[in-house]
Amino acid sequence: MAHLEWQPAFEVGHSRIDSDHQALVGAMNQLYEAAHQGQDKEEIAKILNFLRDYTVTHFATEETLMIRHNYPAASDHFAAHAELILQVSDFIADYRTGNIVGVDVMLGFLETWLMNHIQGRDRDLGAYLQGRD
Ligand SMILES: [Fe+2]
Repeated sequence: MAHLEWQPAFEVGHSRIDSDHQALVGAMNQLYEAAHQGQDKEEIAKILNFLRDYTVTHFATEETLMIRHNYPAASDHFAAHAELILQVSDFIADYRTGNIVGVDVMLGFLETWLMNHIQGRDRDLGAYLQGRD
Protein backbone atom coordinates (compact mmCIF):
# COMPACT_ATOMS: atom_id res chain seq x y z
CA MET A 1 0.00 0.00 0.00
CA ALA A 2 1.49 3.24 -1.12
CA HIS A 3 2.14 5.84 1.49
CA LEU A 4 1.49 8.71 -0.89
CA GLU A 5 -0.95 8.09 -3.72
CA TRP A 6 -0.23 9.86 -6.98
CA GLN A 7 -3.20 11.91 -8.15
CA PRO A 8 -3.95 13.52 -11.52
CA ALA A 9 -4.39 16.78 -9.59
CA PHE A 10 -0.60 16.78 -9.02
CA GLU A 11 0.04 17.14 -12.76
CA VAL A 12 1.50 20.40 -13.95
CA GLY A 13 0.72 19.83 -17.64
CA HIS A 14 4.19 18.95 -18.94
CA SER A 15 4.51 15.23 -19.68
CA ARG A 16 8.21 14.86 -18.87
CA ILE A 17 7.96 16.82 -15.61
CA ASP A 18 4.81 14.94 -14.60
CA SER A 19 6.31 11.51 -15.26
CA ASP A 20 9.43 12.46 -13.28
CA HIS A 21 7.28 13.62 -10.37
CA GLN A 22 5.33 10.39 -10.47
CA ALA A 23 8.60 8.41 -10.36
CA LEU A 24 9.77 10.49 -7.38
CA VAL A 25 6.56 9.71 -5.50
CA GLY A 26 7.13 6.04 -6.41
CA ALA A 27 10.65 6.14 -4.95
CA MET A 28 9.33 7.77 -1.77
CA ASN A 29 6.76 4.99 -1.45
CA GLN A 30 9.52 2.44 -1.94
CA LEU A 31 11.49 4.11 0.85
CA TYR A 32 8.44 4.07 3.12
CA GLU A 33 7.79 0.39 2.44
CA ALA A 34 11.45 -0.57 2.92
CA ALA A 35 11.60 1.25 6.25
CA HIS A 36 8.33 -0.27 7.49
CA GLN A 37 9.17 -3.78 6.35
CA GLY A 38 12.33 -3.61 8.41
CA GLN A 39 14.73 -3.65 5.43
CA ASP A 40 18.33 -3.34 6.43
CA LYS A 41 20.22 -0.10 6.42
CA GLU A 42 22.08 -0.94 3.22
CA GLU A 43 18.83 -1.45 1.30
CA ILE A 44 17.41 1.82 2.62
CA ALA A 45 20.64 3.67 1.79
CA LYS A 46 20.36 2.38 -1.81
CA ILE A 47 16.83 3.78 -2.14
CA LEU A 48 17.96 7.08 -0.60
CA ASN A 49 20.79 7.33 -3.13
CA PHE A 50 18.41 6.55 -5.98
CA LEU A 51 15.99 9.20 -4.72
CA ARG A 52 18.76 11.80 -4.52
CA ASP A 53 20.21 10.94 -7.95
CA TYR A 54 16.79 10.94 -9.58
CA THR A 55 16.00 14.27 -7.96
CA VAL A 56 19.26 15.78 -9.24
CA THR A 57 18.51 14.53 -12.78
CA HIS A 58 14.92 15.72 -12.62
CA PHE A 59 15.89 19.19 -11.39
CA ALA A 60 18.43 19.43 -14.22
CA THR A 61 15.65 18.57 -16.69
CA GLU A 62 13.46 21.38 -15.33
CA GLU A 63 16.38 23.81 -15.27
CA THR A 64 17.27 23.03 -18.89
CA LEU A 65 13.67 23.76 -19.89
CA MET A 66 13.75 27.04 -17.93
CA ILE A 67 16.95 28.17 -19.63
CA ARG A 68 15.80 27.08 -23.09
CA HIS A 69 12.57 29.04 -22.75
CA ASN A 70 13.91 32.08 -20.86
CA TYR A 71 11.72 31.40 -17.85
CA PRO A 72 11.47 34.66 -15.87
CA ALA A 73 11.35 33.03 -12.40
CA ALA A 74 14.29 30.68 -13.08
CA SER A 75 16.70 31.95 -10.43
CA ASP A 76 14.25 31.47 -7.51
CA HIS A 77 13.34 28.05 -8.82
CA PHE A 78 17.00 27.05 -9.20
CA ALA A 79 17.68 28.19 -5.62
CA ALA A 80 14.78 26.09 -4.28
CA HIS A 81 16.19 23.03 -6.05
CA ALA A 82 19.74 23.62 -4.76
CA GLU A 83 18.42 23.96 -1.20
CA LEU A 84 16.53 20.69 -1.38
CA ILE A 85 19.53 18.78 -2.75
CA LEU A 86 21.63 20.07 0.15
CA GLN A 87 19.00 18.94 2.64
CA VAL A 88 18.69 15.50 1.08
CA SER A 89 22.48 15.14 1.05
CA ASP A 90 22.52 16.07 4.76
CA PHE A 91 19.85 13.48 5.50
CA ILE A 92 21.86 10.81 3.70
CA ALA A 93 25.10 11.79 5.45
CA ASP A 94 23.29 11.65 8.81
CA TYR A 95 21.77 8.31 7.93
CA ARG A 96 25.18 6.87 7.05
CA THR A 97 26.76 8.02 10.29
CA GLY A 98 23.89 6.60 12.31
CA ASN A 99 22.90 10.05 13.44
CA ILE A 100 19.45 9.43 12.07
CA VAL A 101 16.36 11.51 12.65
CA GLY A 102 14.35 8.59 11.26
CA VAL A 103 13.17 7.65 7.79
CA ASP A 104 9.63 8.78 8.64
CA VAL A 105 10.83 12.26 9.56
CA MET A 106 12.86 12.41 6.36
CA LEU A 107 9.89 11.21 4.30
CA GLY A 108 7.53 13.65 5.99
CA PHE A 109 9.89 16.49 5.11
CA LEU A 110 10.34 15.29 1.51
CA GLU A 111 6.64 14.77 0.91
CA THR A 112 5.72 18.20 2.26
CA TRP A 113 8.50 19.82 0.26
CA LEU A 114 7.64 18.02 -2.99
CA MET A 115 3.90 18.61 -2.74
CA ASN A 116 4.40 22.32 -2.02
CA HIS A 117 6.97 22.61 -4.78
CA ILE A 118 4.88 20.75 -7.37
CA GLN A 119 1.77 22.73 -6.57
CA GLY A 120 3.62 26.03 -6.46
CA ARG A 121 6.76 26.61 -8.51
CA ASP A 122 6.37 23.60 -10.80
CA ARG A 123 2.73 24.43 -11.56
CA ASP A 124 3.80 27.95 -12.58
CA LEU A 125 6.57 26.48 -14.71
CA GLY A 126 4.20 23.96 -16.33
CA ALA A 127 1.78 26.78 -17.22
CA TYR A 128 4.63 28.84 -18.69
CA LEU A 129 5.83 25.89 -20.79
CA GLN A 130 2.44 25.28 -22.39
CA GLY A 131 2.93 25.42 -26.14
CA ARG A 132 6.64 26.21 -25.75
CA ASP A 133 8.34 22.88 -26.28
FE1 LIG B 1 10.97 22.28 -9.68
